[in-house]
Amino acid sequence: MAISKGLADVVFTQTEISHPDSDNSNLIMRGYSIDDLVNGNVSFEEVAHLVLYGHLPSESELSALNAQLQIDRVLPPAIYDWLRKLPEQVVPMTMLRTAISLLALHEQGVEDITIPATLRKAIRLTAQFPMICAAFQRIREGKQPIDPSPSLGHAANILYMLNGKAPDPDFTRAMNAYLVMLIDHSMNNSTFTARTVASTQADLHSCVTAALASLKGPLHGGANEATMKMLLEIGDESKVDAWVDNAFATKRIIMGFGHRIYKHGDPRARHLNRLAEEMGRKVNALKYYNMSRMVEAAVLRHREIYPNVDFYSAAMMYYIGIPIDLFTPMFACARITGWSGHVIEQYKEAALVRPKSEYVGPRDLHLPAA
Ligand code: ACO
Repeated sequence: MAISKGLADVVFTQTEISHPDSDNSNLIMRGYSIDDLVNGNVSFEEVAHLVLYGHLPSESELSALNAQLQIDRVLPPAIYDWLRKLPEQVVPMTMLRTAISLLALHEQGVEDITIPATLRKAIRLTAQFPMICAAFQRIREGKQPIDPSPSLGHAANILYMLNGKAPDPDFTRAMNAYLVMLIDHSMNNSTFTARTVASTQADLHSCVTAALASLKGPLHGGANEATMKMLLEIGDESKVDAWVDNAFATKRIIMGFGHRIYKHGDPRARHLNRLAEEMGRKVNALKYYNMSRMVEAAVLRHREIYPNVDFYSAAMMYYIGIPIDLFTPMFACARITGWSGHVIEQYKEAALVRPKSEYVGPRDLHLPAA
């Protein structure tokens, strides 16, 4: 029996949503190159429409989506009550995963898995994810949650709800580009998880809760937070080379490096490298950007592994003021839309995911005689 460890190289389904084109170091999002979407300053809302509906929106479709997101930027009071009662030191991804389960209790038609109902819930969850993260952050700082602003777009609203002041346009631009780049990425672990749950005909909130559990791990979405912690642990530009040498000598995994698909570099890392530098210059603190560049060079001296999406996004998010343990929840704020698109594809495919395993345990044991 041929076994593919970690399902590497197994093609599990077809998708029309996104494709990591490893040979050309490109990510294709429903036909568009990620470079064009980022360089063209396309908004997260437009790309969310692209992912969910299959095409970039017309002006009226975009207005309708924006209006719907605005209506959906509301949380049940029970969520705020629950956030206020959380123990101290809660891990934000644990909070977010649990919050989505809780939100399901208050979602009308939560069990409805028809495509129109799932699309409605996908847009609502896209609107609600940043609200939960921001309310959590405000409450743990001992502050009041801030209502979203109807005059701001999605990326700007995230920063506004976190900080309570009109966001800097450059920070908003960086956050928007981040959300666009992270919105979908074919059959990564959390998307596969969402599709696996969807294949049982479970509802969207169940699929998303499971996907969040997957995203939390440091080998997947948790790598952005782990990268920043690594930079803080290294501490200083002068210590980078010795730290990386030691990491390789002790077989330590360098966070934010390597990728199952991209073996010659992650196309998103190029943009995040530039954005991290721009944001570092803006806040007049290039230290962590410079250290990131040095880590990249030092790693390459040991073996050919390149930064992935989580590497330069760490310094970038740090510079725009996102708390380190909210990095992975910010990733989730983008990926919620991609997960939803895949759940819809999986509902349409209607095939239960159920691979095989090779049994290597004993076969001839017997109960002791009575
Ligand atoms: N640091 C050190 N060595 C590495 C790294 C790394 N970050 N990544 C891969 N390698 C090494 C492996 O140890 C392995 O070495 P070997 O051939 O001597 O055994 C070789 O490169 C091949 O790596 P695999 O682990 O087989 O590659 P795989 O495709 O299974 O792993 C993964 C991909 C899990 C992302 C890995 O590169 C890793 O652990 N990276 C660090 C965590 C990380 O950044 N995750 C985020 C990924 S992007 C995302 O999910 C959004």
